[in-house]
Amino acid sequence: MTPMLAPTLAPSLLTLRVAAIEAPTSLIKSITLEATDGALLPGYTPGAHLQVEIPCANGGAPQWRSYSLIHLDPHDDPREGVRAYRLGIRREDEGRGGSRHMHALEVGATLTVRAPVNHFPLAAPPCVLLIAGGIGITPIVSMASALAAQQRDYVLHFSGRTREALPFVNELRALAGERLILHADDEPATRFSIDALLENAQVNQPIYVCGPAGMIDAVLAAARKRGWHECDLHYELFTEAAPQEGDTAFEVELKSSGKRLTVPADKSLLDTLIEHGADVMYDCRAGYCGLCSTRVASGEIEHRDTYLSDADKASGKVMQVCVSRCKSGRLVLDL
Ligand code: FES
Repeated sequence: MTPMLAPTLAPSLLTLRVAAIEAPTSLIKSITLEATDGALLPGYTPGAHLQVEIPCANGGAPQWRSYSLIHLDPHDDPREGVRAYRLGIRREDEGRGGSRHMHALEVGATLTVRAPVNHFPLAAPPCVLLIAGGIGITPIVSMASALAAQQRDYVLHFSGRTREALPFVNELRALAGERLILHADDEPATRFSIDALLENAQVNQPIYVCGPAGMIDAVLAAARKRGWHECDLHYELFTEAAPQEGDTAFEVELKSSGKRLTVPADKSLLDTLIEHGADVMYDCRAGYCGLCSTRVASGEIEHRDTYLSDADKASGKVMQVCVSRCKSGRLVLDL
């Protein structure tokens, strides 16, 4: 696979107005965005997300956060253009501030966003197993809506700590009917069991899963153990990569300017580059979308992404700066 290098053109920017805000649970807000001039907005496919610009509190460069687009009406095809985008955002009090900023918005506020992109597309298989944990329901619900519109078969398993923690349940029930199966950790009778679920599924039935990393890992591991092929396993992580125990600081040199930066042990290379004004494209911040691929002129890379092929990783010439680090204490980047 040829690594995808950061495109030089930014995706088109849109200025949107907050048209409505709902709170389906105490931690989750649903935010509807429309064009400030009422124009039709670019369409999207199930699994797509928007990148939203989050201003930096201390006047630094703004950051971008990705939020999946929710589509619940199977009679309305969002591919050709839509009047509004709907997002579902869980407040993360310990996060880096994106969700807190979104939760503080009021109706009428404006936001800058990048037009929808999709790293979690829905293929056209016969019977699909959709699995969502918590706020991971947002891309999955759009898939259920598209499958319903195409009159294709699916089952949607939706799991959370409690029933009250599950957002959009009434709308989901109206959309999916008996195909929706709810699971709550505090209800022994409905608690989500990956083994029981896969026991009753066809091996290689396509699985689309979105939610916390632990849930995704467990679903993928159980499916692989039962013989699922990789091509039938589709997932999207909602958590950004966190520093790992034992991470150490390293130095980075930007080849074009000779500028030297120190990447602290508790910070990603991407964040360090952004902080110092480097122009790097990014999206998932978790090593799977490919957008932050950066050429490396020298130094030993510690690859932590799931995007690059083994051959790309072995070449030592390219890295995903959102998650990967350095083994040799110093990297020279082709930036
Ligand atoms: S931002 Fe997606 S792989 Fe780095």
